[in-house]
Amino acid sequence: MALDPDLYPIELINAAAAVRMRAYAPYSKFLVGAAVRADDGTLYAGCNVENASYGLTVCAERNALFQMVAAGRRKALEMALTTTGGHAPCGACRQVMAEFAAELVVWLVDVDAAGKPIAAVRTTLDELLPRRFVL
Ligand code: THU
Repeated sequence: MALDPDLYPIELINAAAAVRMRAYAPYSKFLVGAAVRADDGTLYAGCNVENASYGLTVCAERNALFQMVAAGRRKALEMALTTTGGHAPCGACRQVMAEFAAELVVWLVDVDAAGKPIAAVRTTLDELLPRRFVL
């Protein structure tokens, strides 16, 4: 069943689901899509991009945030993350979120085999990364 637009940020979630279909993940086959809403309301999206030298892979969340920074925005308010299973972001991405999105709301979105959002859980960066490193 489709997510209720009264309960979930559907435009943000749909952006994350759409970019997930462009993920480059020939090694893990695990597609990830992320979309952030910047403080001016603009959406930026990113997918995971893998490499034959596995450690060079960049996660979807960081790609979305870096798109935002490249466009001249420095603050994200909300992020949607799409995976099959509704997984939480990796630790490295949580630290990068802290740089540009201290009070971030994060939606963990489960998608079906066709990539369609089917469930979403709301969390925050505070929950995901308490006592983070800051300078
Ligand atoms: N991945 C992400 O894009 N975000 C995360 O938070 C965790 C993992 C990607 C990296 C790799 O391409 C694949 O998922 C499997 O680890």
